[in-house]
Amino acid sequence: TKKVTALELQKMKKRGEKITFLTSYDYTMAKIVDNAGIDAILVGDTASNVMAGNDTTLPITLDNMIYHAKSVVNAVENAMVVSDIPFGSYQGDPLQALHAAVRIMKESGANAVKVEGGEEIKESIQKILTAGIPVVGHLGLTPQSIFKFGTFSVQAKKEEEAKLLLKNAKLLEELGCFAVVLEAIPADLAKEVSEALTIPTIGIGAGPDTDGQVLVIHDMLGMTPNFKPKYLRKYAEVGQIMDNAIKNYISDVKEKAFPSYDESY
Ligand code: KIV
Ligand code: NA
Repeated sequence: TKKVTALELQKMKKRGEKITFLTSYDYTMAKIVDNAGIDAILVGDTASNVMAGNDTTLPITLDNMIYHAKSVVNAVENAMVVSDIPFGSYQGDPLQALHAAVRIMKESGANAVKVEGGEEIKESIQKILTAGIPVVGHLGLTPQSIFKFGTFSVQAKKEEEAKLLLKNAKLLEELGCFAVVLEAIPADLAKEVSEALTIPTIGIGAGPDTDGQVLVIHDMLGMTPNFKPKYLRKYAEVGQIMDNAIKNYISDVKEKAFPSYDESY
């Protein structure tokens, strides 16, 4: 295998091969994810939730994102690494957006950046693209706007909102984004958008007809027991495995069963 590129993802869409994304935020996890053969790793701003315990993605800083992205890049050999640009670092000011994207690329070694929104951040996307930095779009439930939505539930159920989302998806493609994440939208809308675009769509809670899928790694591994949206499939119960191991360790130490003399110098 070799390094996955934006061009390769577009070829995968063309030949009908589904694209796999998972998030990672640290070296050890990213090493496991990359070795397993994932196409791309998203260093999501969900690091704010999963790594730092915040309720939303809003508090995470650009410096925090660079730290996580660098940790992932240090581990990865084959997967494409995409880093989110955090809230407040690109909206409304194209030059600030460019500087944030340049810092991520330069200081972390990521291969691309992701931003949330369509028309309203058009100038920022254009500016980032002028520096030759590949950009992934993100439409539907865009968590940086959670206080506008007021809920983490499915978006674009109404005809008008669906039309606007399709329009924004086409705009992102025209601007030059190489992929777009579709989060928490009806499956039939995601299908329509995926068929209307030549760039790949990467779905989360967007049904089976997007060109690829993404999940938060801790969610799909079963490490976030209180998070159970309809779209989530748990591929393991790693949290339970850890709980069991930690309890065994505690009882072994308490009962003087660990360490043995064989495990001593
Ligand atoms: O930050 C993130 O993890 C994301 C994915 C859920 C798409 O943006
Ligand atoms: Na994100």
